[in-house]
Amino acid sequence: MKILTVVGARPQFVKAAAVSRVLRENHTEVLVHTGQHYDERMSEVFFRELGIPEPDYNLEVGSAGHSVQTGEMLIRMEPIFEKEKPDWVLVYGDTNSTLAGALVAVKLHIPVAHVEAGLRSFNREMPEEINRVLTDHVSDMLFCPAQKAVDNLKLEGVTSGVHIVGDVMYDAVLRHSEAAEKHSSVLSTLGLESKKYLLATVHRASNVDDTQKLLHILETFAMLGETVVLPVHPRTRKAIHLSGISIGENIKLVEPVGYIDMLWLEKNARMILTDSGGVQKEAYWFATPCVTLREETEWVETVQSGWNVVVGVERERIMRAVHEFSIPSTRPNLFGDGDASQKIVSLLESAHK
Ligand code: UD1
Ligand code: UDP
Repeated sequence: MKILTVVGARPQFVKAAAVSRVLRENHTEVLVHTGQHYDERMSEVFFRELGIPEPDYNLEVGSAGHSVQTGEMLIRMEPIFEKEKPDWVLVYGDTNSTLAGALVAVKLHIPVAHVEAGLRSFNREMPEEINRVLTDHVSDMLFCPAQKAVDNLKLEGVTSGVHIVGDVMYDAVLRHSEAAEKHSSVLSTLGLESKKYLLATVHRASNVDDTQKLLHILETFAMLGETVVLPVHPRTRKAIHLSGISIGENIKLVEPVGYIDMLWLEKNARMILTDSGGVQKEAYWFATPCVTLREETEWVETVQSGWNVVVGVERERIMRAVHEFSIPSTRPNLFGDGDASQKIVSLLESAHK
């Protein structure tokens, strides 16, 4: 079986690393990196730390508005797909790279497999929501992390090729947690003590592109009265720089950290504040309480279990969540057993026969 995998953004490197390892045991994988993320700390560090093979193609699309970025990906991918003639095109998550990969494949009549299918925020102003819906509707195999995603697809009439496999990010967490414990020196480097700091990430366009909102979030962090570690996404770094926002003394603003350091920071944080999708789940797997800085989440199971609260960016709600979080006594296995990658490869094999 020949699989062409499309990646481009940070969370996709983590997801593809897990599946790629299993896939390459018995099959051929052609890896296409769109170049959506390109800074060393947004891309290469993940290839190095997670042992992802060098991409066969790097489209070097880089940053641009949605249409130009997605359009360039389409233009640059089509000849590669035509030349490689894969049995499947495998796409991950909900970025512009996901949509572009799926669209090129479906137009060339190449079957599309979507990992992390069926997630919905029900907020169509989010670029990711459009990417998810469109990708799911042109996919032949849809790999869902949990039942809710299957239900979401059913409501849209998508029932064929839908499978619950668990979450490939959990596979990655299980595989790399030991390395994080053994090799990460991030706590001493940043002068942190376990459970005595908050970890925050903010990169969602809706929180960052509106300067007043970003200012409000960072001012709130400054008022929390605890150390806040903030590995800053380049989108956010640029917005802070352009608007000249000053950073509170309790905030340790650092460059994006590698995956191994990030896992160790997540595990040892007293609490996580984030608008990231992946980080909400990782918080859950490490039993670190999570405060989600959005008005809705796709990962509703983490909220229902009591380990995640969705508060938006209103100051009082954030402060209350951080100071009054009540830690639940149980933490069920919400997103599978850590064998999602194996299940995905087996299902692709069965469909190929
Ligand atoms: C993208 C995804 C988002 C995902 C996130 C993961 C889309 C629409 N959004 O958002 O779903 O959660 O990746 O991190 O696909 N930049 C750099 N260096 C880089 C990458 C980006 O400087 O290596 C800067 C550029 O100024 C760029 C901005 O960050 O314009 C935003 O990057 P982009 O890839 O467009 O969106 P993300 O916010 O990263
Ligand atoms: N991550 C990382 N370093 C950072 C921030 C995030 O390694 O400085 C990892 C994080 O552990 C998770 C993934 O990147 O595995 C999530 O990516 P991001 O938050 O950018 O995207 P999202 O999941 O929101 O799409």
